[in-house]
Formats: sequence, structure tokens, C-alpha cells
Amino acid sequence: MIVLKSPQEIAVMREANQIVAELLQELKARAVPGVSTRELDEIAERFIRKKKAKCAFKGYRGYPNCLCTSVNDVIVHGLPSSAELREGDILSIDCGVYYKGFYGDAAITVPIGRVSERAQRLIQTTRECLHLAIERMVEGNRLSDISHAIQTCAEKEGFSVVRDFVGHGIGRQLHEDPQVPNYGQAGTGIRLKTGMVLAIEPMVNEGHWGVRILKDGWTAVTEDGSLSAHFEHSVAITDNGPLVLSEGI
Ligand code: MF3
Ligand code: CO
Repeated sequence: MIVLKSPQEIAVMREANQIVAELLQELKARAVPGVSTRELDEIAERFIRKKKAKCAFKGYRGYPNCLCTSVNDVIVHGLPSSAELREGDILSIDCGVYYKGFYGDAAITVPIGRVSERAQRLIQTTRECLHLAIERMVEGNRLSDISHAIQTCAEKEGFSVVRDFVGHGIGRQLHEDPQVPNYGQAGTGIRLKTGMVLAIEPMVNEGHWGVRILKDGWTAVTEDGSLSAHFEHSVAITDNGPLVLSEGI
């Protein structure tokens, strides 16, 4: 069942998502060679506590950390560790918070120092996919118009979109209906309505879309070892068009 949110609820969800946006901004500045993803996770924990919010991922289905930190061929759900970031890596940082009864969820992929041109192109394309998807979030459009925009944008650059993970509704639960695949034909699925809030999260691989899960049960990597990027925004559909609740990253 899809839960529609009132303007008041959307305002609170914006507050939750602004905590995420501010934190991701800070983590982006701190993600440099020599820093470990565990250090970033500790910064996130402290920041979220100071804002009187809670880490949404920690404890979710047993997830052990506050952030997901996914380096290079890790697509999503990378576990923070003592391994240091190195010049040339790309790092996806995914963060969720719980605040005043609602969830916020967003992700970015950042270069560590100088990165290759193809890595830059992958990051840029994935960000572009998210923005084109958000433009489709207008009342009356269909759910798959979002999915189709993402797939088209990634594939025109010769990249592929991950099938095994999807975007989602968000609100009083981290994951609500509907699921939002990052691929599909335009013009099918439910009609978009004012009051829907969706977390749109394209995951784009440089090579094939195949996924493998490591033995830790979480870390999702590209089957072919190619690079992967991930961007996510929580977005409300309003009478004035899409409102990016986590904007400002
Ligand atoms: N942004 C991802 C999602 O919405 C991250 C979830 S991590 C988990 O599914 F630990 F909460 F699963
Ligand atoms: Co999400």
C-alpha cells in the first residue's frame, strides 16, 4: 500500500533529509586518501546523535553500521572498515536517519583525490541519471517513466543499471511501497500522485549489471569487477512538481 504524505509530513521529512544532506556534505570533504571508512562511520554516528536523530541502517535486518561505504567495484552495502581510502578510488556513501518519526535516505559517490577519466564519467553519468529521473516525478506520469529515464541515461554511455537493488517509497518506514526499479519501459505501472515520497537510487556499473554478494552477507560487488557508482535522493511529489528533500549535497 502506498502511503501519501501531507504537506506537514513532507516538511518533517525534509528536516530528516536535511540532516543526511548536511552530513554527506561533511563526509565528502573528509573522504581523502589515508582516511578509513570506519573513521567516516564514526563521524556520521556522532553527527547524527548531535542532531538528535538515529542512524536508520544500524540494526536494520542486522546491518552493523551507520553508513554504507562502497569502494570501487562495491555496488552497495559496503561495510565500513579500517582499510584506508587510496588516491584514485571512488567511494559511495549511503546514509539514512530516523528523525521525528520519519526516515531520510540519500547517497553520493565521490572521487578520492584524482581519479581516472572513466571513473569520472561513471560518477557524472550516474548523477545525471538521478536528475533526469527526478524530472519525471510529476503527478500523472507513470512509475516506470522514472525507471526508464535512469536506464536510458546509463545505457547511452555504454554503462549498465543494476537489477538486483531498487529505489523505494520512504516515510514512517525506511522501505515503503512502491519499489522503484532502475530499468524498464516507459508508460507502465502506477500513476504518480502528489504526496508520494520516493527514494530514487540509480546504481550504475561500468561493465555488466551482474551482482555477487560477499560472504559477510552484505557487500554487493560487480560480478565482472568493474566500477560501480550510486546516487540517491529522497523526493516528494508536490503540486509544484518534484521537491528534493535531501537537496544540497
Ligand atoms: N539506501 C539503501 C536502501 O535504501 C541502503 C540500505 S542499507 C541497510 O536500501 F542496511 F539498511 F539495508
Ligand atoms: Co534507499
